[in-house]
Amino acid sequence: MARLYVTGGRRLGGRVTAPPDKSIFHRTLILAALGDRRARLTPLARGADNRATRSVLSALGVQIEEEGDGLWVTGVGGPSGLRAPRGPLDCENSGTTLRMMAGVLAASRLDVTLIGDASLSQRPMGRLSPLMALGAKLSGRSVEGRLYPPLRVQGGPLKGGDFRLPIASAQVKSALLLAGLYAAGKTTVWEPARSRDHTERLLVRLGIDLQEAADGALILTPPTRPFGLDHYPVAPDFSSAAFLLAAAILTGSDQVQVETGLNPTRTGLLEALIEFGAAPQVEGGGEAGGEPIGAVQVTGALGRPAELSGARVLRAIDEVPLLAALATQAPGLTRIRDAAELRVKESDRLAATAALLRSFGAQVTEHPDGLDIFGPTSLQATTLGPQPDHRLAMTGAVLGLAAAGTTVIEGAEVIDVSYPGFAEALMGLGAEVRWEPGPGGLV
Ligand code: S3P
Repeated sequence: MARLYVTGGRRLGGRVTAPPDKSIFHRTLILAALGDRRARLTPLARGADNRATRSVLSALGVQIEEEGDGLWVTGVGGPSGLRAPRGPLDCENSGTTLRMMAGVLAASRLDVTLIGDASLSQRPMGRLSPLMALGAKLSGRSVEGRLYPPLRVQGGPLKGGDFRLPIASAQVKSALLLAGLYAAGKTTVWEPARSRDHTERLLVRLGIDLQEAADGALILTPPTRPFGLDHYPVAPDFSSAAFLLAAAILTGSDQVQVETGLNPTRTGLLEALIEFGAAPQVEGGGEAGGEPIGAVQVTGALGRPAELSGARVLRAIDEVPLLAALATQAPGLTRIRDAAELRVKESDRLAATAALLRSFGAQVTEHPDGLDIFGPTSLQATTLGPQPDHRLAMTGAVLGLAAAGTTVIEGAEVIDVSYPGFAEALMGLGAEVRWEPGPGGLV
């Protein structure tokens, strides 16, 4: 088990580029695998979740080679080009892999079972039921009428259809759009608020007819010709950058610049910072693979509490633990609501965030769909047992930078799920951080 030691008190400074976006990399891998040519993906995302998508595609016969800081992916021309795997496909900790691959496999002629680790095996899959209305068969472990992995997908001819999603979910929307590419008719997907739109951007780049209706519904017309791009550049990950920005704020450092993706469906944290009274300075204008990119620098302290709910929370869905961490330093009562989805992420992130903050001495109250945090608190270093997921472990590290003393994070290898190199990035900014590998040098 690896340990991360984080000592609070130092100011940070410097410029760093966030690693490639995990969400975009999953989608790029899948669409390149369904494409009509050998394509280059750069830079290489090395996190375990992305590696899970890679190995699932390899097990389905897709040729993927690593070269330099990128991959070569040889497209098989569509789900019918996928080969039957030898056994169940292991999506490990990655809900995005499992749900998006369910969409692809729905359109195949294969009968495949998707499995995951203990955390993924507890995550709800009933939300994929629209794939059944498209014409695929889904079955799995049923507990009190709810569907969980292992998830068996029996692909078949799909017919298209109209879907109103009860919960905004980019994973489910993407599964439907991927399946819809191979349906006989149009697929229309409406979600109550716009979740991250990376799949849509990639489909448009691929020349696929995807229209948005006045009510926000997405209307996909299946392409009649094969599609593909020679090169897929992948933007840096705002959800990884967010940890570095939060570290800068919590250490009072105004000389940290982070190069990051700036897709507006992802940057709710920047909106929240403004509400907290901090001033994020955004140098935008760049582009990578159809995604806006730029550099962010944060100046100013957290002068007041924030009320975070609705679509803004959706735009910061993976940053809620960090928003709660920031709120410990904002004077007054910060309320986070409409975040019930966090209870079914890699862990129950509301309960886990409340427990994490309390171990640093913060005042937190848990609500069914959110948290109340009363600040400011002077944080005390602590020893944290293994955290239930990568984002909690990194939030613990960021809090440790703001606490008096040295915080220990056990089981820190979980960070590898989304941000290998996180500790090095903090060190590069001057943080007092030490990484102790597990026994035998293994993380
Ligand atoms: C993701 C979508 C979100 C997000 C997850 C990644 C994606 O999940 O929380 O980390 O890449 O599509 P939901 O679709 O379940 O909201």
